[in-house]
Amino acid sequence: MDAEDWDERYAASELVWSAEPNEFVAAELSDLAPGRALDLAAGEGRNAIWLARRGWQVTAADFSQVALDKGRRLAGDTPVRWVCADATTWHEPAAYDLVLLAYLQLPAAQRRAAVRAAYDSLVVGGTLLLVAHDSSNLTEGTGGPQDPAVLMTPEDVLGDLAGRAYDVQHAERVPRIVGDGHGEEPARTAWDCLVRVVRR
Ligand SMILES: C[S@@+](CC[C@H](N)C(=O)[O-])C[C@H]1O[C@@H](n2cnc3c(N)ncnc32)[C@H](O)[C@@H]1O
Repeated sequence: MDAEDWDERYAASELVWSAEPNEFVAAELSDLAPGRALDLAAGEGRNAIWLARRGWQVTAADFSQVALDKGRRLAGDTPVRWVCADATTWHEPAAYDLVLLAYLQLPAAQRRAAVRAAYDSLVVGGTLLLVAHDSSNLTEGTGGPQDPAVLMTPEDVLGDLAGRAYDVQHAERVPRIVGDGHGEEPARTAWDCLVRVVRR
């Protein structure tokens, strides 16, 4: 999907994603001391706004202007810098203590460019957190993109960082329970890819 496709998708509904942060983002980042954060492919900004409300100085970048406009409205008085940019080409060198990539599902070459841009945006000692639909979700999980080309494993993501220096804090697939098991929808397990590294 290009930026125009995403604009259409965002324009078609009130809120495409939740207003709450992703559960892994909240679990991984709650204890991190606030600093400067970049949410790359931020969408409507659920994670960016959550970070900003926890004291982070946040830049939210996405190539969909419609998503960013919705994020700005959602943020209200919460200060977030909204930047319309392509995650595969844009970065601000060594400017951030934290870079977040949440559910940016791109074919391998583009994903690699985005992951490397994310890393290059970090200061030494900064944290890169990537959460995405895992490759195994296609056969073992539920929901998410059905094109295997845009899914990934933790090994793929670490491979994207070949030649860069980092310490791995997490590189694993993690279960995400979808549906609450009440009503007609049974609870199901989606598999996500979670990678957290610190720039050396
Ligand atoms: C599944 S949404 C996730 C949004 C947000 N990270 C979240 O977790 O709520 C994927 C987002 O990636 C953005 N995106 C896709 N390709 C992009 C690219 N090359 N550059 C910037 N944003 C991109 C889309 O516009 C969309 O907002």
